[in-house]
Amino acid sequence: CGQKDGKPVRQRLLVVANRLPVSAVRRGEDVWSLEISAGGLVSALLGVKEFEARWIGWAGVNVPDEVGQKALTKALAEKRCIPVFLDEEIVHQYYNGYCNNILWPLFHYLGLPQEDRLATTRSFQSQFDAYKKANQMFADVVNQHYEEGDVVWCHDYHLMFLPKCLKEYNSSMKVGWFLHTPFPSSEIHRTLPSRSELLRSVLAADLVGFHTYDYARHFVSACTRILGLEGTPEGVEDQGKLTRVAAFPIGIDSDRFKRALELPQVQEHIKELKERFSGRKVMLGVDRLDMIKGIPQKILAFEKFLEENPTWREKVVLLQIAVPTRTDVPEYQKLTSQVHEIVGRINGRFGTLTAVPIHHLDRSLDFHALCALYAVTDVALVTSLRDGMNLVSYEFVACQDAKKGVLILSEFAGAAQSLGAGAILVNPWNITEVANAIFQALEMKADEREKRHKHNFTHVTTHTAQEWAETFVSELNDTVVEAEIRTRE
Ligand code: G6P
Repeated sequence: CGQKDGKPVRQRLLVVANRLPVSAVRRGEDVWSLEISAGGLVSALLGVKEFEARWIGWAGVNVPDEVGQKALTKALAEKRCIPVFLDEEIVHQYYNGYCNNILWPLFHYLGLPQEDRLATTRSFQSQFDAYKKANQMFADVVNQHYEEGDVVWCHDYHLMFLPKCLKEYNSSMKVGWFLHTPFPSSEIHRTLPSRSELLRSVLAADLVGFHTYDYARHFVSACTRILGLEGTPEGVEDQGKLTRVAAFPIGIDSDRFKRALELPQVQEHIKELKERFSGRKVMLGVDRLDMIKGIPQKILAFEKFLEENPTWREKVVLLQIAVPTRTDVPEYQKLTSQVHEIVGRINGRFGTLTAVPIHHLDRSLDFHALCALYAVTDVALVTSLRDGMNLVSYEFVACQDAKKGVLILSEFAGAAQSLGAGAILVNPWNITEVANAIFQALEMKADEREKRHKHNFTHVTTHTAQEWAETFVSELNDTVVEAEIRTRE
């Protein structure tokens, strides 16, 4: 906290992310209804009392007319949100194209577009131009709202070009950039045609953060091998300018889950679910319907488990919540049909008149329903092929203090670094290994489950989202002060 006119004031934090934490629905020419979507980042920052946070980002809707834009800006201001308006063409090229069809798969080791995605490769340059243009539009809005002393915290792969644009406006702006996905090995990053330009613009930030030490190390290697810069224990140095690079593993607001579980309506829901699935063990998957989440592989592993363990067939059910996402991108459309096909086949093969092995839902659940589901689950399956962190694993653990269920966790999720000792770690590509892990989890004795749960629960309740946000921002403030001292010396 600083002082203004003798009164304490909180430091302002401008959080810049592609998507604002609201869903906006237009109800009339100048009428909008807004709903806060409480994802990880929102709850992290709600808990941070030291800063006064404002959000800058895209509202996820196309608003071509001035009347609509003005009304939405006004409505968002009440939620401390500031919109960046992107037109349909930019959204198509920047968001669907460069972000979600190029950077997202590449950063998750799924490679650059191939075969039928070749068309995208040909339009690579126009998509990259749109990416830079969109990042510049974000920078313009930040610049309009920036006040001296503010901290600007840029988030994720959508905004890798932003630190550079911001520093061009004002070199003394405090700029941090945090990546929520993995940063891949430099050998993967170097296949990207715009590899150097992106690295250089991220390096314009004062502090660059990742979920794990490995991602930070990959980033530093990419800068040394591709740009020929010097990597130091603190970060990356370029002609005397140091960009600090470090790991800041995110967490969740575990108290929010604890409070929810105490609510009478959630308790009631838990009771209903227990009755509904009585006599069967509940296995749960909660994922966005995204290729990185390994949903088809997970379901095939479950099929293998049923195949090899006939005695379990009517005693276990897999509930898979698959939240639709990025539905305009063809790869995601294909994945939806593929998953439906596999689920239908397995239910046909192992279902009976009284029991269906897989309940697959193509939708999200509200927060309270989700908490109840986590609480009644015996085994959670988080088998992402790659994942920056994966907070579903944290949420499950936070809701399991009564039941002490088992977490099966991909070794390729960032969360494996923190929950590895309590979970059963698996290679999600190895269907036999996952099928065996399902068997081990279902048969695990209570004392072993308790021991594993305790390890994970302690971690999840002590490494919270609030702590993550506070650590990043105070590190950013310190980094800037240290750089000023170094320049003076
Ligand atoms: C990942 C990304 C986020 C993104 C979220 C939902 O977690 O790291 O930046 O907001 O997916 O994806 P969407 O494309 O719907 O924003």
